[in-house]
Amino acid sequence: MNENYALSTEKLNEIRTSVDIVDVISEYLPLTGRGRNFFGVCPFHDDHSPSMSVNRERQIYKCFSCGAGGNVFTFIRDYENISFMQAVQKIAAKSGIPLQIASESEQSFTKRNTYHEMYAIACKLYTNNLYTEEGLEAIDYLERRQISKEARKEFEIGLSLKNSHLLTGLLDKKGFKKEEMVQNGLAHYKDGEFRDNYFNRIMFPLFDLTGKTVGFSARIYRSNDASKYINTKETEFFKKGELLYHYHKAKNIARMKEQVILVEGFMDVIRLFTIGIENVVASMGTAVTKEQLLLLKKMGKEIILLFDGDEAGRHAAYKTSSDFMKMGVYPKIVVLEDNLDPDEYILKYGKEKIEYKIAHPMNTIDFKLEYLKEDKNFSSPLDKANYISSVIEELNQITDPILRETTLLKISEETAFDASIIRSQLMDIQDTVKQVSLTPQKEGSSLKRNRYQEAERRLVFYMLNHEEIIELYKQKVKFLSTETYRLLAKEIHYFYEEHGYIKEADFINVLLEDNELLNTFHEITSLDLKDTYKKEEIDEYIDTIYEYKIIKQIDYLKSEQKKTVDQEKKKKLGDEILELQIELQKKKVWEEL
Ligand code: CTP
Ligand code: MN
Repeated sequence: MNENYALSTEKLNEIRTSVDIVDVISEYLPLTGRGRNFFGVCPFHDDHSPSMSVNRERQIYKCFSCGAGGNVFTFIRDYENISFMQAVQKIAAKSGIPLQIASESEQSFTKRNTYHEMYAIACKLYTNNLYTEEGLEAIDYLERRQISKEARKEFEIGLSLKNSHLLTGLLDKKGFKKEEMVQNGLAHYKDGEFRDNYFNRIMFPLFDLTGKTVGFSARIYRSNDASKYINTKETEFFKKGELLYHYHKAKNIARMKEQVILVEGFMDVIRLFTIGIENVVASMGTAVTKEQLLLLKKMGKEIILLFDGDEAGRHAAYKTSSDFMKMGVYPKIVVLEDNLDPDEYILKYGKEKIEYKIAHPMNTIDFKLEYLKEDKNFSSPLDKANYISSVIEELNQITDPILRETTLLKISEETAFDASIIRSQLMDIQDTVKQVSLTPQKEGSSLKRNRYQEAERRLVFYMLNHEEIIELYKQKVKFLSTETYRLLAKEIHYFYEEHGYIKEADFINVLLEDNELLNTFHEITSLDLKDTYKKEEIDEYIDTIYEYKIIKQIDYLKSEQKKTVDQEKKKKLGDEILELQIELQKKKVWEEL
């Protein structure tokens, strides 16, 4: 079920209009007023100039640089990384509006609460265990690894004991069901016995983006035989690929420092914390996912990859850099010597050395070239050729022409290979890429938008805030030739029919699940048009749209005519075409008068 629809549109609108978007956004970032528009530094991309505008009349925000935009709910959702429904709840609570959530979502709400309660209880139990007698050996282990008391507290490190009924017993007493414990990854049946999942391990809680415990990573500390870490299985509320370890705490510090450091393991986060570096998050071993890349992009202007110094770590840094580059982000990379991970490196070389390394990272391109050069011997023609062909692929990824050219010259210098040859090879692969992607441009998204499409999207722009334009659309237009605009116009029309009014700040709530429509919506709301319109302008748009419809219809009939072999049908189509052409001609003549 789509949780956005758990509340009626009326209720959503009541909640939305209970606050002023300008006041709400001001609580998150300073806005300065200029006329009806207020401006601030956009929190959704790295920026210094005030490219986000907040419009009091329209109750929407819009970033002219990164394209982020929406209403007060989407702002809170995206700023706080919470769900749409949670954002709605926040505003409702602020305005003292009681919320009755539909039964299905109430169910999932309870499920989520139960999950969080169970994990909070487990976390508490494990941290307490650390200070029992059995905890002495664990504390001793942590001390040996130089994990301070302060760090133990900060990261809520705990201990599961050599007793497999402790947590299940406690949860049972608190009234939780056995099946819930199993489902939520805290218990299992073995040999007919119901048992805790974690036994005799040091417990590292894993937090979601808001800081709630949603899982554990459990490390052995007394022996070496079993697997080093046991992690909570993926559940509805614990998805490793959507989290970054310590995100909730690192987020603000990273924003302030305008820098975020990504490491592979949570142990590395803990180590860096103990030496006072706190703008750090961990991907927790797995390949960095798209969700994580986006989170990082939002966290800080400068992204530093501080991965393990072994081949696996360097490979991961190479892969992650490439993924970032596709998003137009160029992370910096710190490479550690001796195959050490950041934790080991700091213990071996100390705080100053790592601080120096972090202050002097490699840039993306230099790192990638270095990486590709590893184990290549330039006196071997084959190695050299391999290197050059792989760097040409890299060059092709660089969108900035100056950076591309300087990199090319550098490669030419280090390989003593003629720059013009590298350049022409690069052009060759660019040509093949272009040929492959020679699919027709999506209607409406093309830069070469014709005047007809311009008229269509302007009309939709005014439909978004003026009921009488929707009425005009209903009576005189009915159909837009460009698919994306047509679909959006249809949605606007529905909304108006259902609710008797239109306001883009409310209308956006029904689009949240549909990326295509949402993109079109953002494209149109970004148009630099006046909020009020002149009647003549609208008439002109409607005329132009009509003309476009005829042209499209003629095109269509012509193609039908070509396809058919039936002579009679051919003639009939020909007559229709002629008729439309006359109509078009008349319009043109009339326009010229
Ligand atoms: N990891 C995991 N399961 C494993 C091994 C690793 O989930 N069996 C994840 C953990 O999140 C860990 C990260 O991958 O933090 C990095 O793994 P690794 O480098 O092996 O761990 P370290 O951080 O070096 O931990 P330690 O120093 O305690 O050995
Ligand atoms: Mn380690």
